[in-house]
Amino acid sequence: MSNSIKLTLNIWRQANRHAKGRFETYQPKDLTTDMSILEMLDCLNDELIAAGKEPVTFEHDCREGICGTCGIMINGMAHGPDRGTTTCQLYLRRFKDGDTLVLEPWRAKAFPVIKDLLVDRSAFDRIQMAGGYISVNVGNAPEANSILIPKDVALEAFDAAVCIGCGACVAACKNASAMLFVSAKVGHLSLMPQGHPERHDRALNMIAQMDAEGFGSCTNTLECSAACPKEISPKWIQRLNGEYIQAAAVTRR
Ligand code: FES
Repeated sequence: MSNSIKLTLNIWRQANRHAKGRFETYQPKDLTTDMSILEMLDCLNDELIAAGKEPVTFEHDCREGICGTCGIMINGMAHGPDRGTTTCQLYLRRFKDGDTLVLEPWRAKAFPVIKDLLVDRSAFDRIQMAGGYISVNVGNAPEANSILIPKDVALEAFDAAVCIGCGACVAACKNASAMLFVSAKVGHLSLMPQGHPERHDRALNMIAQMDAEGFGSCTNTLECSAACPKEISPKWIQRLNGEYIQAAAVTRR
C-alpha cells in the first residue's frame, strides 16, 4: 500500500569540480512510500525545473540494481541503510514520515565530484583497462561445453563477478581503498581457466593502476564489504594479496 510521506532533504549542491559545495534543504511535495530514492529526486527536480531552478544532478541508468551507476551517500551510508541494496532499489517506505535524509556524493580523492551528486568514476575504468579482461581473441563465442568448469568453481567465481563497479566500497572505506573492487575483478578471472595465462600480469597491473589513481590502502576495516550492494566477501581481498605475492615472486617485478 502506498502512503504519502513528508521528508526533508539536505542535498549536496556543487556547480562543478572546482566550485565550493554546500548543502541545500528541500521538502518535495507529493512523495509516496512506494517511490525509490531516485524517483524522489525526479519529483524534486520536476519541482525545481517548474520553479526555474537548477535541478539536482545525479547518475542513474538501469534503476534495477544491476548497472552500478546510481550510488550516493544517504545519511552517511553508501547506498543508504539497507544491506545488499543499491540506491535505485531503496524505497521511501524504509523511512519514517518527517525524517531528514542527507544526500551526498561519494567522497574519495579518486572520485572527484563532477556536479552535485555525480562523481567521476573513470578511475575504475582505467583499473579495468589495466588488466581486468582476457586478451585472447577467440573469434566467435566458443561452444559452451568446450572448456568444462566444475560447478563449484563457476559458482565461486560468480560470487565475485557480480561486482557492479558502483564504488560503494571506496566511499564506505575510511581510506577510500579500492581493494574490494580490484579483488573481485582479479578473483573471478583467476578462477576461470581462460583467465589463468594472464593472471600474474593482471594482478600486478591492476594493483599498480589502483595505486596510481590515488585510492588508499586497505586496513581491513571491512566497511567495503558491509556497504557492497552485491555483498561481496572480503575473502577476495585476502586472495588478491596472495595473488599479488605469487605474481611478484614469479615475474620478479
Ligand atoms: S541505476 Fe543501475 S544499479 Fe542503480
